[in-house]
Amino acid sequence: MQSNKKRLINAKVTGVGMYVPEKVLDNKYFESIIDTNDEWIRTRTGIRERRMLENGATSDLATKAVEDLIKTSNLDPKEIDCIIVATVTPDMFFPATACLVQNNIGADHAWGYDLSAACSGFLFALQSGASLIEGGSYKKVVVVGADKMSSIVDYTDRNNCILFGDGAAAVLLEPTENMDDGIKDSLLRCDGSGKESLHMLGGGSLNPPTHDTVDNKMHYLFQDGKAVFKVAVKGMADVSVEMMEQNDLKSEDIAFLVPHQANLRIIDATANRMGITRDKVMINIEKYGNTTAATIPLCLVEYYRDGKLKKGDKLILAAFGAGFTWGSMYMVWSMD
Ligand code: COA
Repeated sequence: MQSNKKRLINAKVTGVGMYVPEKVLDNKYFESIIDTNDEWIRTRTGIRERRMLENGATSDLATKAVEDLIKTSNLDPKEIDCIIVATVTPDMFFPATACLVQNNIGADHAWGYDLSAACSGFLFALQSGASLIEGGSYKKVVVVGADKMSSIVDYTDRNNCILFGDGAAAVLLEPTENMDDGIKDSLLRCDGSGKESLHMLGGGSLNPPTHDTVDNKMHYLFQDGKAVFKVAVKGMADVSVEMMEQNDLKSEDIAFLVPHQANLRIIDATANRMGITRDKVMINIEKYGNTTAATIPLCLVEYYRDGKLKKGDKLILAAFGAGFTWGSMYMVWSMD
């Protein structure tokens, strides 16, 4: 990221919104469909429940999150300049989910696009949105993390189906000339050699859909959990520690670590490396599981609305996902 010494404008979060579907899949439900048990899922992952969207698509999740944002921040949709939707479960290849959201909310003057970076999607999209603001041409950018993971999860694969859920959350970015406020720094990375461990092979230009791709379950998410676990811990912790060092941040300076919610053990390992105690880590994995691009903004919205996240709090956001993609972001919370 461009050093904040050279920038004249920062992007700050001035509004938030979220949506999770009503249907709850608890661990007991999985006991009824696969060979697993509540104790294994809780101790290996930290997850108790996740949500599932029964009717509709990712654009419906995203639209409801943005409608919540619009309502709670008195935003006129016509003022929105750009909508970025981070997702790996778009309604379809094209048009982009962002276009569908734009139409649903009547954002008549907006442009928008989807961003595919899996579980790091929200961080990548937040940096993209921040760059639009920092450039000076855009005043209101909506960044959404939304995924309907239930549409690509194989509910006979016990290694993976217990991990994921559906949800969406959104933030509004606006400019500030106070360089001590808003998004201050980011370190984002990708490494395509990770494609073997975490992917969905079917449906794209490599393997267009055929009867064979369906029979071979190529339209489902595949993950080698053990392999991903190791690199996720290292990746998330390394960039987060680097972020602290390059901004002279001690662990006591940080109000919250806001980690991607994939596995409580990955979250704990990352916090330990940063010297951050559990009480300063945002965690809601027990309620929602891994909602991919939505995990980080869902945490932000819930902690803010619960009164735990306060204006001026210094946050480190950290994520790891398919690609591999990973990164860390340093932000000062702007909302009262
Ligand atoms: N219920 C019961 N047992 C299960 C199970 C389930 N739902 N899923 C797997 N198991 C079994 C395995 O088959 C294995 O049995 P075996 O030893 O007889 O082969 C055993 O539990 C241990 O499996 P293992 O893979 O060692 O478990 P783990 O401790 O690595 O946990 C994950 C598995 C998936 C929870 C963990 O690896 C993980 O979270 N990985 C990373 C996920 C992630 O971060 N993804 C990032 C995308 S953002």
